[in-house]
Amino acid sequence: MVSTIRRIGVLTAGGDAPGLNAAVRAVTKSAILTHGWSVIGFEDGFEGVLTGRARPLTIDSVRGLLPLGGTMLGTTNRTNPFWCALPELGDREPRDHSQTFVQSLERFGVDALIVIGGDGSLTVAFRLMQLGVPVVGIPKTIDNDVRGTEATIGFDTAVSVATEAIDRLHSTAESHHRVMLLELMGRTAGWIALYAGLAGGADAILIPEIPFVLEEVVEVITRRERSGRRFTIVAVAEGAQPRGGEAVYEVTGPQPYQRKYGGVCKVLEAELAQRVSLEVRSLALAHLQRGGPPTARDRALATALGCAATDAIASGAFGHMVAVRNDPRGQPIPSVVTVPLAEPARGPRQVPLTHPLLDASRRLGISLGEPRGESGASGGDS
Ligand code: F6P
Repeated sequence: MVSTIRRIGVLTAGGDAPGLNAAVRAVTKSAILTHGWSVIGFEDGFEGVLTGRARPLTIDSVRGLLPLGGTMLGTTNRTNPFWCALPELGDREPRDHSQTFVQSLERFGVDALIVIGGDGSLTVAFRLMQLGVPVVGIPKTIDNDVRGTEATIGFDTAVSVATEAIDRLHSTAESHHRVMLLELMGRTAGWIALYAGLAGGADAILIPEIPFVLEEVVEVITRRERSGRRFTIVAVAEGAQPRGGEAVYEVTGPQPYQRKYGGVCKVLEAELAQRVSLEVRSLALAHLQRGGPPTARDRALATALGCAATDAIASGAFGHMVAVRNDPRGQPIPSVVTVPLAEPARGPRQVPLTHPLLDASRRLGISLGEPRGESGASGGDS
């Protein structure tokens, strides 16, 4: 097929994730060097397209980006072109800007657009595709909860940071004979808490997919104390909720994504303090999980996905995202495939209740907040 592409646009949308810069670099270099296209980077996600904030990306402008966290293009998780208020465009109230979006891309002479985003931004990309925008997605989010891919850019770094935090908590928890509750990101999916909890040797891991029973957490702490281990570490995903109860979040707007999670460990701290004899302390790792340099694995993943996204454009695979499928032969480098954007648009990918790491946790005696003898509650259908 002869490609008619001359210029592509790229943007990063939603929460930042380590490895975004490596992806922008790979998109730019492969577009220029492999395909002979020019590249425009839009600033602050979809907002840059709507407001005309953009700049050309060249081999020179992406030099030195690999080790840098954040995104050189800027990002926001507030602008959805289908419903937002932009003071720069004279808005006082939210409205549909999707036609402005399409016209702006035309004005910039963009023949195809690469959206680097999480499930929310890729859902926007899916809707743009339905409007006729030639779009290709690249999945990123530290939460690892994008449907259709087994890995997202940023997850590996977040897990490393969270694991190191658990390692560090061990020595202080043991010295002070305390229960330490560590709150990790993951509003609807507990990937970070599960991986880091297991890698860091947490004694209990609480994730949204398995609503926890408080008495079981109490039981873990007292059982450990009885056997002479006078400290306990609990890794908690911010979206974890008690069985029959609700997650802790603040509503900041009418959209489902307008929920500010955080605080579950504070609530747990107060409740556990009344039930156990050891002192209980909690902390939230929060945005530290998203900042700083990406791991080698995230840089490699971002590079592979960035190159694959330009190839997807060249082959006309619009309306798709590039994705990771683990190689069944166990090769260290997983295969990169293309998946319709309809897949991430189906909502976040939770930890399946059959996930081998859940089984491994139980077998090692790590509590998942379920009463003993029970395994698996609800959620996790992918
Ligand atoms: O990137 C996804 C995520 O990390 C969620 O786990 C978290 O709830 C959210 O972003 C917080 O984003 P922000 O505080 O930047 O709005």
